[in-house]
Amino acid sequence: MDIKGRSVVVGVCGGIAAYKVVEVVSRLKKMGAEVDVIMTANAQKFVAPLTFRSLSHRPVVTDMFSDPEYWDIKHVSLAQKADLFIVAPATANIIGKLAAGIADDMLSTTLVATKAPVLIVPAMNHDMYSNAVVQRNIETLKELGYIFMEPDTGRMAEGSSGKGRLPEPSAIVEKAVSILKPARDLEGIRMIVTAGPTRENIDPVRYISNYSSGKMGYAVAQAAHERGADVLLISGPVELEGPDGVRLIRTSTAEEMEEAVLGNFENCDMVIMAAAVADYRPAEVSGTKIKKNDDEMVLRLRKNPDILKKLGTIKGNRTLVGFSAETDNLAENAAKKLESKNLDMIVANDVTMEGAGFGTDTNIVRMIKRDGTVVVLPLMSKLSVAHRILDEVRGMAAGSGQGSGNGQ
Ligand code: PMT
Repeated sequence: MDIKGRSVVVGVCGGIAAYKVVEVVSRLKKMGAEVDVIMTANAQKFVAPLTFRSLSHRPVVTDMFSDPEYWDIKHVSLAQKADLFIVAPATANIIGKLAAGIADDMLSTTLVATKAPVLIVPAMNHDMYSNAVVQRNIETLKELGYIFMEPDTGRMAEGSSGKGRLPEPSAIVEKAVSILKPARDLEGIRMIVTAGPTRENIDPVRYISNYSSGKMGYAVAQAAHERGADVLLISGPVELEGPDGVRLIRTSTAEEMEEAVLGNFENCDMVIMAAAVADYRPAEVSGTKIKKNDDEMVLRLRKNPDILKKLGTIKGNRTLVGFSAETDNLAENAAKKLESKNLDMIVANDVTMEGAGFGTDTNIVRMIKRDGTVVVLPLMSKLSVAHRILDEVRGMAAGSGQGSGNGQ
């Protein structure tokens, strides 16, 4: 399975098996995941943070107070960005702290704050592992939905044999991949996704457009397909290949995109418009290349159709999701668009922020729902953002059979 762009946070605790987790991080990274590592103080006595930093290509988080200006943001943001949290080797200490809700260092604090699935891989002396309190804590956590891997049985670091060894890195990675596999929770949903810019011709050699690369919309289409939706991707001119299994219509101008969207609207349950549609087009398109005769040239523009606004007037019980690209007053402007276009949700991105908006592989978004709920996400890969968007809208779609969204 493709885990490219998925976010995995690995919490490393103080145990001799910490060295094996180096291989886990390396394998996940090679498979294309974004890996962030948090190390406890004791973990750093077994393996240097530099080792994990070199493999993950990201700073390793070692101390809650090393950067007082940002620590709070950081622990919340790692907790939020994780698609999966792995704790390995999980010591009796971290298992006990988690079972008791104790958050007294960076790892335990982030674990308490995350909503991602947590895979706990215990490794410790076999007498410690079989201790009744440890076993009770494990049971408590299992009941709460934490996922555990059984330790392997074999020769331990101190010389004796028993159950308590960290499973092989390949087994941990295999388990992680199976958890990351998206649920087929959009089966039966017919979805239109738009992506990319539009191109408004001035003459046969010139056009007006914008910097959209299509990455955000293509990520939404890919994620929706992975989750079982029947996806039609309507794309402006971009360099990207269509995701496997997704039907693709390529368009150029806003009017062409409008025609393609409207032509398929009746047979769909949900539309997610990530395309950056040009608001204006040249009022006249010259049939021949315009000559440069004067020092100044005036280009008269005409308003393009607002595709999403039109859909808002005929939506019926379909779910409509828009994007909002802003450079100022993000929340306010996006909320106005949600209202004026009659949307169920709008995904707002401040395109002036580093790592957000046009052309990047990552985005920073806030999702505003019709009922006023706001979900703010940290910097994440566009694929992870896409999955978070789908998490929010899956229950809204007519025919999804989930939740009681407005489409029900
Ligand atoms: O493609 P990438 O490089 O990955 O960049 C991603 C992105 C920045 C393009 C994407 O995240 C994004 O913000 N897309 C929406 C851009 C935009 O046009 O925003 P807007 O605020 O102008 O429009 C609001 C909504 O109305 C959008 O859903 C848009 O598709 C839609 N719209 C806009 C104008 C128009 N004439 N018709 C429309 O349907």
